[in-house]
Amino acid sequence: MVALWAVAAAGFVAEASAPFTPQLLSPPPYYPRDEATLAQGRTLFAQLCAGCHVLDRDGLGSPLGGVTRVLTQVELLRHTHNPVAVIKSGNRRANALFRRYQVAMPSFDFLPEEQLVGILAPIESETENFKLTPFAVDLTPPIEKRSG
Ligand code: HEC
Repeated sequence: MVALWAVAAAGFVAEASAPFTPQLLSPPPYYPRDEATLAQGRTLFAQLCAGCHVLDRDGLGSPLGGVTRVLTQVELLRHTHNPVAVIKSGNRRANALFRRYQVAMPSFDFLPEEQLVGILAPIESETENFKLTPFAVDLTPPIEKRSG
């Protein structure tokens, strides 16, 4: 118990300066891996997401490489369908990102779940192929207000 807390605390302090070590190293089983779906997902990503996100660099939004290893598919679907709701729910990671990028991502609630999973599939595939590490969000500043 004590040891666990110590590890967690050390992780938080280290995050701002040191690279963040992903917790889920193995590919999640729930993403399609066939070429047709990956190609379709890449096209949709280019149309809908690439204006703000690339996988390995900062843009208007955070780098998305490795995100499939720190957030579950359910969390990723929720975030993409309604980012403001996730931020308002007090989610620490979403609030840290919101503070950093100073803007909330638009809602993609019109996207059928299947297409969204298709967009996430190449992100996971690129993460695996290029061993991309998830973006280290600095979670340390306190959340100013609680809402929702
Ligand atoms: C207009 C810019 C913009 C577009 C377009 C956009 N995003 Fe974002 N995205 C952001 C910003 C800014 C954040 C961080 C703040 C937030 O979550 O609202 C973010 C955060 C995220 C996160 C959370 C990342 C993490 O590390 O926890 C995911 C996942 C995400 N976006 C996926 C997508 C996907 C998938 C698309 C395309 C369907 C997309 N975004 C389109 C700006 C954008």
